[in-house]
Amino acid sequence: MPKKLQSPSGMHDIFGSQYDYFQKVREVVFKNAEIYGFQGIETPVIEDTEIFTRGTGKFTDIVEKEMYTFKTKGGDRVSLRPEGTPPIMRAFIQHGLYTKPQPVKFFYFAPYFRYERPQAGRYRQFWQFGFETIGRGGPVVDTQVIVLVYNILKELGIKNVVTEINSMGDEKCREEYKKALKKHLKKQSSRLCTDCKRRVEKNPLRALDCKKCLEVKAEAPQILDHICKKCCEDFRRVLEFLEEVEIPYDLNPFLVRGLDYYTGVVYEFFARSKKSGEEEFLALGGGGRYDGLSAALGGEERPATGAAMGVERIVLLMKKNGEVYEKEKPRVFIAQLGDLAKKKSLKLFEELKKANIPVAEAFGQDSLKNQMSRAAKLEADIAIIIGKEEAAEDKVILRDMDSGGQEKVKTSEIIKEVKKKLKE
Ligand code: HAM
Repeated sequence: MPKKLQSPSGMHDIFGSQYDYFQKVREVVFKNAEIYGFQGIETPVIEDTEIFTRGTGKFTDIVEKEMYTFKTKGGDRVSLRPEGTPPIMRAFIQHGLYTKPQPVKFFYFAPYFRYERPQAGRYRQFWQFGFETIGRGGPVVDTQVIVLVYNILKELGIKNVVTEINSMGDEKCREEYKKALKKHLKKQSSRLCTDCKRRVEKNPLRALDCKKCLEVKAEAPQILDHICKKCCEDFRRVLEFLEEVEIPYDLNPFLVRGLDYYTGVVYEFFARSKKSGEEEFLALGGGGRYDGLSAALGGEERPATGAAMGVERIVLLMKKNGEVYEKEKPRVFIAQLGDLAKKKSLKLFEELKKANIPVAEAFGQDSLKNQMSRAAKLEADIAIIIGKEEAAEDKVILRDMDSGGQEKVKTSEIIKEVKKKLKE
């Protein structure tokens, strides 16, 4: 027996209602991106692996455990992109966008790849939308990205969003914090899990992400007590701006995000829900300032800030909330019988479209009964029926789908008559 062929584990086909939900998210993202002055960008799905080892960070879970990395036939070491931020910075540097009016603001809606254990809301190919502002920064730019994402979630009907926020300091002041944290972790070494024991030397901040070492984390020094005056001031201003635009936030002194490039403010959006009486938090996305990424990838120093959101997780919530994505309903359905009628229907379909009248058809169907039940299912207001007789007479039947009343109309008068009936 030949093997049953299926999509790879953790990777999904998107069609039917799932596609419609994706389309809704896409529409809202594209609309808001335009309002806030972001231009679209598509980068290759595959990049030089170094983009991520130097960008995302060599000792992050993403790079250490989750990347699809392989050698090309030409011997290049490449990876399926696990995230969009380093590739977009690579594009900024490669195309010398320093000379364009700053900041350069990019948005994207694209698939990403992480070799994780598949489960609800966690896939190996997943979609993100995101926003990156490169070239000019500051608390107001950070805040605007948060506002933009918050507004998108609101427009999509996502309720109970919790925005957690923290500052990770810049590369210099974070070093001070890392020393203090290392000291604490070393003292508590016997209470740490194996992963965290290893992390202490290489990347102690990751221990703050650990779900197993919660007690040690709770007693750890807080980063806000160690960051410099400038980072403190920037952070205070982001909070002040958020209050100004009435975006609620929760301070989380241990929020460090799982990527190495952040400097300054970081934040994460969670959806809060209850399962068997327990509060659950689903990470919808996050972001922050990453002023060091340009230089890490070989470019000139440039401030930058951005955020990315998981589309599948947002869709999961839209469905859970009973948020129904209503596609535009066709107002008119064309039903046909016979070859000549099919030919006339094709032309009529184009004319109705040109007149901006939402129209549907089932040209592949020959049974009139099946076509009429399709028209009813689609909740069309009017059915235009072209049978053999009508096609020969150059007429059509207009049927009111609600009342069942119908009349014959000359082909040349259809658009006028349909418009009149739709107004009634
Ligand atoms: P991230 O937190 O790694 O950030 O990913 C953002 C969101 O992508 C997550 O909160 C989650 O909703 C979604 N996501 C991540 N992994 C998976 C998965 N395996 N399955 C389903 N959804 C997933 C970034 O990627 C940064 N590039 C964000 C950023 C942009 N920072 C600055 N600019």
